[in-house]
Amino acid sequence: MKAVSIPALCLLLAALPALADHPDAAQLAKSKQCLSCHAVDTQAYAPSFKDIARRHSAADTGLLVRKIRAGGRQHWGEVAMPRTGTLGTPVTDAEARALAAWVLSQK
Ligand code: HEC
Repeated sequence: MKAVSIPALCLLLAALPALADHPDAAQLAKSKQCLSCHAVDTQAYAPSFKDIARRHSAADTGLLVRKIRAGGRQHWGEVAMPRTGTLGTPVTDAEARALAAWVLSQK
Protein backbone atom coordinates (compact mmCIF):
# COMPACT_ATOMS: atom_id res chain seq x y z
CA MET A 1 0.00 0.00 0.00
CA LYS A 2 2.76 2.38 0.97
CA ALA A 3 4.64 1.68 -2.28
CA VAL A 4 1.57 2.70 -4.24
CA SER A 5 0.48 5.73 -2.27
CA ILE A 6 3.81 7.60 -2.17
CA PRO A 7 4.31 7.72 -5.97
CA ALA A 8 0.62 8.59 -6.32
CA LEU A 9 1.12 11.49 -3.93
CA CYS A 10 4.19 12.63 -5.88
CA LEU A 11 2.19 12.57 -9.10
CA LEU A 12 -0.55 14.59 -7.47
CA LEU A 13 1.95 17.19 -6.24
CA ALA A 14 3.63 17.30 -9.64
CA ALA A 15 0.25 17.99 -11.22
CA LEU A 16 -0.40 20.98 -8.99
CA PRO A 17 2.72 23.08 -9.40
CA ALA A 18 0.89 26.40 -9.33
CA LEU A 19 -0.12 26.09 -5.68
CA ALA A 20 0.90 29.25 -3.86
CA ASP A 21 3.09 27.67 -1.23
CA HIS A 22 4.51 24.96 -3.39
CA PRO A 23 5.95 22.50 -0.90
CA ASP A 24 8.35 20.86 -3.30
CA ALA A 25 9.51 23.91 -5.22
CA ALA A 26 12.95 23.28 -3.76
CA GLN A 27 12.88 19.83 -5.32
CA LEU A 28 11.69 21.36 -8.59
CA ALA A 29 14.60 23.83 -8.50
CA LYS A 30 16.92 20.87 -8.15
CA SER A 31 15.34 18.82 -10.93
CA LYS A 32 15.26 21.82 -13.31
CA GLN A 33 19.00 22.44 -12.81
CA CYS A 34 18.46 25.84 -11.16
CA LEU A 35 20.80 24.79 -8.37
CA SER A 36 23.67 24.10 -10.76
CA CYS A 37 24.09 27.89 -11.05
CA HIS A 38 22.19 29.34 -8.07
CA ALA A 39 22.47 28.60 -4.36
CA VAL A 40 19.83 29.67 -1.87
CA ASP A 41 22.03 31.85 0.32
CA THR A 42 25.44 32.22 -1.25
CA GLN A 43 26.58 33.82 -4.47
CA ALA A 44 27.64 31.06 -6.87
CA TYR A 45 27.86 31.31 -10.66
CA ALA A 46 24.56 33.18 -10.36
CA PRO A 47 23.13 35.46 -7.64
CA SER A 48 21.73 33.69 -4.57
CA PHE A 49 17.98 33.25 -4.33
CA LYS A 50 18.07 35.26 -1.08
CA ASP A 51 19.67 38.24 -2.86
CA ILE A 52 17.14 37.95 -5.67
CA ALA A 53 14.28 37.87 -3.13
CA ARG A 54 15.69 40.95 -1.40
CA ARG A 55 15.88 42.86 -4.65
CA HIS A 56 12.36 42.01 -5.84
CA SER A 57 8.91 42.26 -4.28
CA ALA A 58 5.89 40.07 -4.96
CA ALA A 59 4.86 42.68 -7.54
CA ASP A 60 7.75 41.40 -9.68
CA THR A 61 6.45 37.81 -9.81
CA GLY A 62 5.43 38.16 -13.47
CA LEU A 63 8.84 39.56 -14.38
CA LEU A 64 10.61 36.68 -12.63
CA VAL A 65 8.33 34.11 -14.31
CA ARG A 66 9.29 35.56 -17.70
CA LYS A 67 12.98 35.57 -16.77
CA ILE A 68 12.88 32.00 -15.48
CA ARG A 69 11.47 30.90 -18.85
CA ALA A 70 13.28 33.24 -21.24
CA GLY A 71 16.56 33.73 -19.37
CA GLY A 72 18.11 37.12 -18.87
CA ARG A 73 21.26 39.15 -18.52
CA GLN A 74 22.72 42.38 -17.22
CA HIS A 75 20.41 42.73 -14.29
CA TRP A 76 23.02 41.31 -11.93
CA GLY A 77 26.18 41.32 -13.98
CA GLU A 78 27.71 40.15 -17.19
CA VAL A 79 26.87 36.48 -16.68
CA ALA A 80 23.66 35.52 -18.48
CA MET A 81 20.97 33.07 -17.49
CA PRO A 82 20.11 30.81 -20.45
CA ARG A 83 16.60 30.28 -21.78
CA THR A 84 14.73 27.36 -20.18
CA GLY A 85 15.42 24.02 -21.84
CA THR A 86 19.03 24.91 -22.62
CA LEU A 87 19.95 22.80 -19.61
CA GLY A 88 17.63 19.99 -18.52
CA THR A 89 13.94 19.85 -19.24
CA PRO A 90 12.07 23.06 -20.09
CA VAL A 91 10.21 24.85 -17.30
CA THR A 92 6.47 25.26 -17.93
CA ASP A 93 4.62 28.46 -17.08
CA ALA A 94 3.04 26.85 -13.99
CA GLU A 95 6.44 25.57 -12.83
CA ALA A 96 7.99 28.99 -13.39
CA ARG A 97 5.23 30.52 -11.23
CA ALA A 98 5.89 28.05 -8.43
CA LEU A 99 9.64 28.67 -8.69
CA ALA A 100 9.22 32.47 -8.74
CA ALA A 101 7.02 32.34 -5.62
CA TRP A 102 9.55 30.08 -3.92
CA VAL A 103 12.50 32.32 -4.83
CA LEU A 104 10.62 35.38 -3.53
CA SER A 105 9.91 33.57 -0.25
CA GLN A 106 13.66 33.10 0.45
CA LYS A 107 14.23 36.55 2.04
C1 HEC B 1 23.42 28.34 -16.41
C2 HEC B 1 23.23 28.99 -15.12
C3 HEC B 1 21.82 29.25 -14.63
C4 HEC B 1 20.77 28.35 -14.50
C5 HEC B 1 20.76 26.87 -14.86
C6 HEC B 1 19.68 29.08 -13.91
N1 HEC B 1 20.02 30.38 -13.69
FE1 HEC B 1 18.83 31.85 -12.91
N2 HEC B 1 20.26 33.20 -13.28
C7 HEC B 1 21.55 32.93 -13.76
C8 HEC B 1 22.28 34.18 -13.89
C9 HEC B 1 23.71 34.31 -14.38
C10 HEC B 1 21.39 35.20 -13.49
C11 HEC B 1 21.64 36.71 -13.49
C12 HEC B 1 21.17 37.26 -14.84
C13 HEC B 1 21.16 38.76 -14.91
O1 HEC B 1 22.15 39.41 -14.55
O2 HEC B 1 20.13 39.32 -15.37
C14 HEC B 1 20.14 34.55 -13.10
C15 HEC B 1 19.03 35.22 -12.64
C16 HEC B 1 17.90 34.62 -12.12
C17 HEC B 1 16.79 35.31 -11.50
C18 HEC B 1 16.72 36.81 -11.23
C19 HEC B 1 16.22 37.62 -12.40
C20 HEC B 1 16.25 39.09 -12.06
O3 HEC B 1 15.96 39.85 -12.98
O4 HEC B 1 16.55 39.51 -10.94
C21 HEC B 1 15.89 34.35 -11.11
C22 HEC B 1 14.55 34.56 -10.40
C23 HEC B 1 16.44 33.08 -11.52
N3 HEC B 1 17.65 33.27 -12.12
C24 HEC B 1 15.82 31.87 -11.29
C25 HEC B 1 16.25 30.66 -11.82
C26 HEC B 1 15.50 29.44 -11.76
C27 HEC B 1 14.18 29.27 -11.03
C28 HEC B 1 16.22 28.50 -12.43
C29 HEC B 1 15.85 27.07 -12.75
C30 HEC B 1 14.67 26.90 -13.57
C31 HEC B 1 17.45 29.15 -12.89
N4 HEC B 1 17.42 30.46 -12.50
C32 HEC B 1 18.46 28.51 -13.61
C33 HEC B 1 22.05 31.69 -14.08
C34 HEC B 1 21.33 30.52 -14.12
